[in-house]
Amino acid sequence: MLRRIDVITLFPEWLEGFKALGLTGRALAEGRVALKCWNPRDFAPGVHRSVDDRPYGGGPGMVMRPEPLALCLDAVLAEDEPAAVACLSPQGRVVDQAAVGELAQRPRLILVCGRYEGIDERVMETRIDEEWSIGDYVLSGGEPAAAVLMDAVIRLQPGVLGHQDSAAEDSFVDARLDCPHYTRPESWRGQTVPDVLLSGDHARIQRWRTAQAVLRTARRRPDLLADRPLSATERAAVAEFGLAGGAIDDESGLK
Ligand code: ADE
Repeated sequence: MLRRIDVITLFPEWLEGFKALGLTGRALAEGRVALKCWNPRDFAPGVHRSVDDRPYGGGPGMVMRPEPLALCLDAVLAEDEPAAVACLSPQGRVVDQAAVGELAQRPRLILVCGRYEGIDERVMETRIDEEWSIGDYVLSGGEPAAAVLMDAVIRLQPGVLGHQDSAAEDSFVDARLDCPHYTRPESWRGQTVPDVLLSGDHARIQRWRTAQAVLRTARRRPDLLADRPLSATERAAVAEFGLAGGAIDDESGLK
């Protein structure tokens, strides 16, 4: 269970909305997880408190200087129990739901948000234990990536989601996507809710949802199913609600 997250960022304001709003805001306000932001600028020597400088060897952009970050990390690590120092960067291991599940079980996360062209490599070598990427694209800084990662781990903490089992139904948990969802009204602009969802037959509804999830995954993310056989439950659900069932996800193209 995650108790505490420390975020090292040059733009702590970036995380204000994350800290105040929605599911994460509530979880933090309820004290389920503690979040503390640290700014390397507060540890930068000199009147200018400069945190970046031009790269040796030339080239565009600025590099985060080693000393303010190292001093900041000293202060972070001096507080509370030891933990791995993780940096958000496009060079890191790509985060997936399995990784989120592992990170969510740690007691403490320390997340360093990079900025500019990067962080001086000597800090990376000596002070950063792991690197995580949220995908194969480049952001202008690690803050949005840290917010993504924190959101994903916080919602898995006990008591954070309303329904005890709603995390179990998420996309990716069974290496498949989520099924479609509907709410009132029953008929909206000529489109109706699938009959099965109005039937009150909960076992049948569950089988329909399973079939939808499998068919949607087959259509949109076949790579997720390539690594594993379908379970007996999935096979039975697809057989019951499959091609002839007429209840297939619109975009499946399998009708
Ligand atoms: N910083 C810049 N791009 C990033 C990415 N894709 N993931 C994590 N941190 C980043």
